[in-house]
Amino acid sequence: MTDRYAVFGNPIAHSQSPRLHTEFARQCGQDIAYEAILAPLDGFAEAVAAFRRSGGKGINVTVPFKVEALEIADRLSERAQMARAVNTLRFDDDGIFGDNTDGVGLVADIRDRLGVDIDGRRVLLLGAGGAARGVILPLLEAGAAALMIANRTPERAVELIAPYGVRAGLHAGGFGMLAKHEFDLVINATSASLSDQSLPLPQGVFAAGSLAYDMVYGKGTTRFLADAREQGAALLSDGLGMLVAQAAESFRLWRGVMPDIAPVMAMLRGD
Ligand code: ATR
Repeated sequence: MTDRYAVFGNPIAHSQSPRLHTEFARQCGQDIAYEAILAPLDGFAEAVAAFRRSGGKGINVTVPFKVEALEIADRLSERAQMARAVNTLRFDDDGIFGDNTDGVGLVADIRDRLGVDIDGRRVLLLGAGGAARGVILPLLEAGAAALMIANRTPERAVELIAPYGVRAGLHAGGFGMLAKHEFDLVINATSASLSDQSLPLPQGVFAAGSLAYDMVYGKGTTRFLADAREQGAALLSDGLGMLVAQAAESFRLWRGVMPDIAPVMAMLRGD
């Protein structure tokens, strides 16, 4: 019988997830159906329960439900627990398992596709919203020597690292703290690119040979990437690879097989 999966969000019309998972399933010879479901803003838990009752095996969760998804999980992966956000639920016989694959998706894209080391490198993460949450633990686990999180509202960044306690090399604050620091990897997890706004990054933030990575995708060279190039970043990437890699990791959690990411990237780039 065909197993059912879905992505829940609001809005959801432009989600690439159905296309990605349908392609993974074709590639891996898995019999699944994957749809996009618009959940009412005040009815997420109910919509998920209805989907599970109708035979659903698991879901992806996107804006604005990633924190609510954490609350309906019976068990959580460590990375979901530390992120306080869930993007993948798997409906097991003994309860709902919640995970967050955003961070492994980012790390896989940087390391495997772009061939850039994270181990021993100085990393700057910009933003403290939903997009930044999921990536902190995976970046630390990948061996970042220093991880600074800078946000327009400094308190939100400080809050994000609170679960990690005092840890050498982990700092959070406002953009002001970046003066006189340089980084090998600068990741934009703010939504500033969506409104074509520049971030107040001081000169000297981009070390020689550094990578500038914007989690936004489908917008060409964003303002952040253009500014980064001007300020000396050597490599630029948008977030399409992270999107595909986080989806692949969700697929693996559900189906036990890891799809091949490269052909799916090529398919999306060909659009
Ligand atoms: P998401 O879930 O997509 O991350 P969010 O929770 O609203 O959305 O977070 C948006 C992030 O982008 C925040 O870090 C926000 O900074 P604040 O916490 O200070 O609001 C950041 N952001 C959005 N527009 C920005 C801008 N023009 N300059 C700097 N930061 C911006």
